[in-house]
Amino acid sequence: MSAGGETKKTACVTGGNGYIASSLIKMLLDKGYAVKTTVRNPDDMAKNSHLKDLQALGPLEVFRADLDDEGSFDDAIAGCDYAFLVAAPVNLASENPEKELIELGVQGTLNVMRSCVKAGTVKRVILTSSAGSVIVRPDLQGGGHVLDEESWSDVDFLTGAKSGLWAYPVSKVLLEKEASRFAAEHGISLVTVLPVVTAGAAPARQIHTSVPGCLSLLSGDEAAFGALRAMEASGVVALVHVDDLCRAEVFVAEEDTAAGRYLCCAVNTTVREIARFLSENYPQYTVNTSLLTGDLLEKPRVSLSSAKLVREGFEYKYKTLDGMYDDMIDYGKALGILSN
Ligand SMILES: NC(=O)c1ccc[n+]([C@@H]2O[C@H](COP(=O)([O-])OP(=O)(O)OC[C@H]3O[C@@H](n4cnc5c(N)ncnc54)[C@H](OP(=O)(O)O)[C@@H]3O)[C@@H](O)[C@H]2O)c1
Repeated sequence: MSAGGETKKTACVTGGNGYIASSLIKMLLDKGYAVKTTVRNPDDMAKNSHLKDLQALGPLEVFRADLDDEGSFDDAIAGCDYAFLVAAPVNLASENPEKELIELGVQGTLNVMRSCVKAGTVKRVILTSSAGSVIVRPDLQGGGHVLDEESWSDVDFLTGAKSGLWAYPVSKVLLEKEASRFAAEHGISLVTVLPVVTAGAAPARQIHTSVPGCLSLLSGDEAAFGALRAMEASGVVALVHVDDLCRAEVFVAEEDTAAGRYLCCAVNTTVREIARFLSENYPQYTVNTSLLTGDLLEKPRVSLSSAKLVREGFEYKYKTLDGMYDDMIDYGKALGILSN
């Protein structure tokens, strides 16, 4: 019971040591939810110390669970009103992507959904997929393409070519489709959020995904820059602030009429536009122009539309690169990605 005597709603957020999940946990605690989260190794304090800090904000329980291990999410999901499926394999450099990204992504999603069925209390499952399941299509030549939730990345094209980061979008398409089939079969209300590259500060203190990529023009980290370039190869670098993404996740959980897929994107831009923005706004850093080689776009060829989310009543707080980078520069310093 809350101080006002109301019963708190309970949400499970999988993968609490991750970048997005740590922000979502904070937001849910701030909104008065009781939160249960999972990590693979609860004793790894280097990865989990922020969860101790978040426990000061409200009821937060931490459970051990692995996507590979059917049933391991049962205790974390038991009694929950909402299940936010955020944990997923994200090792883009995997040497065995078929097994580690695709098979684990699909089976891990189904394992968590099986725990939701067993719990019998979950009103809605909110699956975090990726705009990667929307944008990788060989038919998008030239410019002026606007993609929405009707678009799917082309799995046959990706698995035929197996080039670059092919397995990640394949994993997201297949896990979304399997999750949807499973939800229909078991009468689960499923909503899927499709974030673009996610920016901004979060409680987690070890970050390996989008933040190093967004800061790579300042840090000079070539591997991290590769992920940004790979996104642009699809026609755009699309960004959303992590706070807006988490607000959107909670919005689609709480809105009774929310259904289907929701692209979550606030800014459609390019590497060159980001480089210009950074050199104008952060003169204390040097933009690594040596990374700006090869075919880079002046303007996006493709844009990702978040019209569905906005039409249904969601409002973005961060709509410009200023908004995206403002707190991320300090976050990058705290994480050791940028020098002070
Ligand atoms: N960041 C972005 O720009 C972005 C954009 C679009 C979509 N997404 C999606 O958003 C979700 C979260 O991404 P993120 O950026 O927050 O990444 P992250 O910080 O790397 O978080 C991924 C989480 O998944 C967990 N995980 C990985 N394999 C697991 C397994 N076998 N069993 C249990 N947990 C496992 C990780 O735990 P460990 O620490 O134990 O590995 C970590 O907590 C992912 O589904 C990602 O594809 C992210």
